Amino acid sequence: MILRGKILYRGEILEAGIEFDERILRVSKELSGKAVRGIILPAAIDVHVHFRDFREKHKETIESGSLSALHGGICLAIDQPNCKPAITDEEAYFERVKKAEKKSHVDYALNLGLTEENSGKIEGIISKICERGYFLPAIGEVFLQHDSMQVSYDTLEKVKDVYRLSLHAEDAELIACNEVPNFKCRPPEAEIEAVKKCVKIGSFHFCHVSTIDALNVIAATDSSSEVTPHHLLLSTEDSERLNGFVNVNPPLRSKENVLAMLENIDLADVIASDHAPHTPEEKKDGMSGFPGVETLYPLMLNLVRKGAIGLKTVVERLSTNPALIFSLRGYGGIEVGNYANLAVFDFSKVEKIKAEKLHSLAGWTPYEGFEAVFPTNVFIRGVEAISDGEVLVEPGFGEVLRSKN
Ligand code: DOR
Ligand code: ZN
Repeated sequence: MILRGKILYRGEILEAGIEFDERILRVSKELSGKAVRGIILPAAIDVHVHFRDFREKHKETIESGSLSALHGGICLAIDQPNCKPAITDEEAYFERVKKAEKKSHVDYALNLGLTEENSGKIEGIISKICERGYFLPAIGEVFLQHDSMQVSYDTLEKVKDVYRLSLHAEDAELIACNEVPNFKCRPPEAEIEAVKKCVKIGSFHFCHVSTIDALNVIAATDSSSEVTPHHLLLSTEDSERLNGFVNVNPPLRSKENVLAMLENIDLADVIASDHAPHTPEEKKDGMSGFPGVETLYPLMLNLVRKGAIGLKTVVERLSTNPALIFSLRGYGGIEVGNYANLAVFDFSKVEKIKAEKLHSLAGWTPYEGFEAVFPTNVFIRGVEAISDGEVLVEPGFGEVLRSKN
């Protein structure tokens, strides 16, 4: 297959052809092929989703979450282990990846959970996962002294060299309560202090960093950082509009902090959704988390359209850097030899986000009415999976990542 049009290739926009089968074979100005309206970009990697399923099927399933991802131009989603049952041993891991093999619409990988209880056995669990040939992106997200998945700084110290660790850095001792809105009792210091302690312990991937101060601390080390659209676009000033659905961990921050994060987006290595679906009824009870896998790339590209951030900046943080940080071979941008994971976006087609048009079972979005640029066509490993907004693949089309892919 050859597509021809504007292509973001090695940091430049070219008018060229791209030839591919499962992988990209050639990119050349000399190639003619099927004309594409818009621009061909790499499909994105979302390194932080919570696809729920099992005992939380009413919030999301791997099938629905991955369909939502596909519509948002995501080729690979990394699922977090705090589902129910939590992924804290190899049996739970194998059960979940087997489900993903049958149900995922996009490529899929699963992190392994770390708790105080399994921390002594974690190396053995990792070995068993790897022996079966599954590719483990990271341990995490690791919650520091939080919920049933909590881990102490001492345990972190003990396991820090075992494998790549993704941390949810908020210090529970500095969190006063969990009311609505939770930003009143989960202060910026809970994140900043946790990050400062962790960077002294070792090198980590920090999930969903929500404060400019923590971002600055991490940027001065060899740890990596991830930021989310909600911490770049929403602030405590959205509390009233969100009408009680405001809780997310880490919480929304001041408008001033949001603007500083956006202005200094270059400090962040990755942009990820932290897709954390809860139903409207659960949100009314104060549960924390926003759905966002489908709107991640479209919202970031709308910022590009408005000139707030550069296209290269977005693509590096949604494709190149995630592939490098998590060693995702064959992913990470339009390059000969990589999988043909492509998404076509037409910047003249701006849509208003509506929850009823999204595919998550959450049934709501914090971005109702926001402008966004959704992909018209998505190719995964060379197969057209979305064509003019229509899904062409079945559940199970997505591949669970293997260590030898
Ligand atoms: O708001 C959040 N919700 N933050 C997290 O870190 C976890 C997530 C969830 O799983 O609901
Ligand atoms: Zn999370």
